[in-house]
Amino acid sequence: MAKEVIAIEGGHRLKGTVRISGAKNATVALIPAIVLAEDTVKVFGVPEISDVDALVTLLEELGCKVEANEDTLSVDPSAMVNTPLVSSAVDKLRASYYFMGALLGRYGDVTIRMPGGCYLGPRPIDLHLKGFEALGATIDEDEDGVYHLHADHLHGAHINLDFASVGATINILLAAVRADGRTIIENAAKEPEIIDVVNLLTKMGAKIRGAGTDTIMIDGVDSLHGTTHEIIPDRIEAGTFLIIAAAMGNMMLIQNVIPQHLDALLSKLREMGVGYEIIGDSILVYGNIKDYKPVNVKTQIYPGFATDLQQPLTALLTQASGKSKVQDTIYIERFAHCEQLNKMGANIETTGKNFCEVNGITPLHGTRVEATDLRCGAALIVAGLIADGVTEIENVYHIDRGYDNIDRKLIAMGAHISRYFVED
Ligand code: EPU
Repeated sequence: MAKEVIAIEGGHRLKGTVRISGAKNATVALIPAIVLAEDTVKVFGVPEISDVDALVTLLEELGCKVEANEDTLSVDPSAMVNTPLVSSAVDKLRASYYFMGALLGRYGDVTIRMPGGCYLGPRPIDLHLKGFEALGATIDEDEDGVYHLHADHLHGAHINLDFASVGATINILLAAVRADGRTIIENAAKEPEIIDVVNLLTKMGAKIRGAGTDTIMIDGVDSLHGTTHEIIPDRIEAGTFLIIAAAMGNMMLIQNVIPQHLDALLSKLREMGVGYEIIGDSILVYGNIKDYKPVNVKTQIYPGFATDLQQPLTALLTQASGKSKVQDTIYIERFAHCEQLNKMGANIETTGKNFCEVNGITPLHGTRVEATDLRCGAALIVAGLIADGVTEIENVYHIDRGYDNIDRKLIAMGAHISRYFVED
């Protein structure tokens, strides 16, 4: 069977401007949050990614009226029916699980399949479920992995998360905004995407305090209404372009960023010797690939170094002179990109499942590689831009799930990239 590849002819320096799209991980929570409203919610800055397409399919399955126009999505949930979400659209991404919290919050009842998403090691949802139970829900899971959650009466609760999970924090928020009384989430996640979701919910009429800190307090309200909202820029897309600019840039300007969201990456890039300047909501990267120093990286919850940038940074570290050590404390198996990078000439040792050592500098050469997950795809794009010859990346659907037209954005800055189908 023919399969699509992204083919990159490496070695071309990139120059120009790239505009960052709205944040994927905010968008995929904001869209399910809309079903809590009684009337139309319009969101601006929606990235063109296939995760959004899958969520729109789910909204339509629920009977929402959806209009998409460029980067604007308008959703009218007024005629919605609480339909079981069991179609294949649920499996396409992890964030479909935000419909659990949102529909539980709205109807006190939801039937939904276990979500999909990238394999990064086991990704249980026990903290989400414990949170729903604390709010008064009962949970049944059948042998096909379909969950049924029900609450005759959702009530506020004091919830202390064992881990500051992004997904659990958002899902509990979604269920709690229309519950009776006060919910307190302790050890809440502090990622900027959570603040964005809270900003939308607040504009819809929710009463929430403390987003961005580790204690979030929600006072339930009877109903939520329509509003408009502009999504924050994607810090992971911005970080990926910063890494690309460090690798192959020759004066690249990255626009529409919140530089503060990128502090941990910027400080690592500075340590490596990457030259850049912050100009308002843009970052200008000079790029000077010959002189990079190795660095050690340990991923952490926000504001620590983002796990989602660990993989693309590893690709850049193949060009630093010496040994870099990379540890992922968020996921236990997020190192599948190392084997793919080694096929291109990198010298990366994976010692244990959540740790690798990158021995640079190694010249990279083009070959056929496989995007095993979304950010592995980003790492291979970084490597393909650096490599001599042509890199063909398989499983492009992973990349299309989370990067808005990344090939088009790179081509506009001088990259030689095409897409075509190859035989298996
Ligand atoms: N975890 C549990 N139990 C739970 C929830 C999480 O054990 O109930 C564990 C996970 O297995 C994982 C860790 O806690 O090891 C972190 O999980 P978290 O819930 O914080 O992550 P998530 O909500 O599943 C979101 C992003 C990820 C990003 C992480 C961490 C979305 C849709 N996904 O996932 O993004 O890596 O937060 O920042 O928002 C990506 O964009 O490539 C991506 C994977």
